Amino acid sequence: MRIVVGVGGGIAAYKACSLVRKFTETGHDVRVIPTESALQFVGKATFEALSGNPVHTGVFADVPEVPHVRIGQEADLVVIAPATADLMARAASGRADDLLTATLLTARCPVVFAPAMHTEMWEHPATIANVATLRAHGSTVMEPASGRLTGADTGPGRLPEPEEIFALASLLLERSDALPRDLEGRRVVVSAGGTREPLDPVRFLGNRSSGKQGYAMARVAAQRGAQVTLIAGNTIGLERPAAVEVVHVTTAEQMGTAVDKHSVGADAVIMAAAVADFRPVNVAAAKIKKGAHEPNSIELTKNRDILAGLVQARRDGQLGGLAIVGFAAETGDEHGDVLTHARAKLARKGCDLLVVNAVGEGKAFEVDNNDGWLLGADGTEQSLDHGSKALLASRVLDALGPLLR
Ligand code: CTP
Repeated sequence: MRIVVGVGGGIAAYKACSLVRKFTETGHDVRVIPTESALQFVGKATFEALSGNPVHTGVFADVPEVPHVRIGQEADLVVIAPATADLMARAASGRADDLLTATLLTARCPVVFAPAMHTEMWEHPATIANVATLRAHGSTVMEPASGRLTGADTGPGRLPEPEEIFALASLLLERSDALPRDLEGRRVVVSAGGTREPLDPVRFLGNRSSGKQGYAMARVAAQRGAQVTLIAGNTIGLERPAAVEVVHVTTAEQMGTAVDKHSVGADAVIMAAAVADFRPVNVAAAKIKKGAHEPNSIELTKNRDILAGLVQARRDGQLGGLAIVGFAAETGDEHGDVLTHARAKLARKGCDLLVVNAVGEGKAFEVDNNDGWLLGADGTEQSLDHGSKALLASRVLDALGPLLR
């Protein structure tokens, strides 16, 4: 694919280098178009070396090739990172005073802006209006991350991490349309990762869930405008998604307490976590040693089912019209195939949607791609095509939207 990476003049311009690298490493043909001020932060030679293509800022280089029109027309995706307040203002008003803004005017492909600026600039009515205009024009303007900005200040306005921009940009290529802002004003709780049930201070019973699918759910929901709380069990060093509040927990009991607390007043709960069904009855205060008192078995007791508890609380009228999504990781066995087990689980759990993944043989756990089925309580069944975990998340949210009260 032909990807244009536009770079605005902000300190986060150095992170555009990793983004360019990700696109080239995944086989894309990348053209970097910085603004003049971006070159104050990162040199032209860096972008030329990383992309393997010439780099210009103005419309008067290579004039016979009409680059100010051609690059935009031929692009499959344009990603602006960092998108400064000034660059978004110029893009929103349709200016074409440099190669990047001219390219934005001629591009007919998906366009993603990854904003980076100080919190005051992000929250200024002028920027808010420009962001709304760009979204109305069909562009995807990402929610920025919160955190440390240049200098001592913190707040929303940090550039989302390159992996996150890459994940969202790849999602747009897969979806081939802009990300809808259909979850604005909604509160969504997502659980992710595996729980760990301690045996002693150094050992636990755990599972292979990486948390990647739940993180993708949270990330895509936030980028569709939702206010997202992510209840994260054990995950494999995943970055906090931009604009998502993360609550870290360890055990199934802690996850249950956190999910219950945050579901009050929420519009939807998505239980992507792999919650342990059992925990050891006895947790040793000191490390269990070999020798005279070594155990020869572990006695287990059942954990409560968080998802079933939510469904029951809703039946009891405690959670309003909360929409509830469950996940099922299944392998077929002598009693039935994956879908047979999944249909029975949906009926048993009573949630509105069940996302079904076939697991085993390198599928679903730890990997970046996923596929499966989406079963609805109304009897609908949809297959979820193979693609990134963000694509699967996006398809689930497409189905969830109409179920929100
Ligand atoms: N789940 C939960 N609490 C538990 C166990 C599971 O909330 N104690 C949720 C999971 O987050 C997931 C769904 O229930 O959304 C299905 O999880 P799964 O482990 O597949 O189902 P189980 O109920 O454990 O069924 P089984 O062990 O029979 O496959």
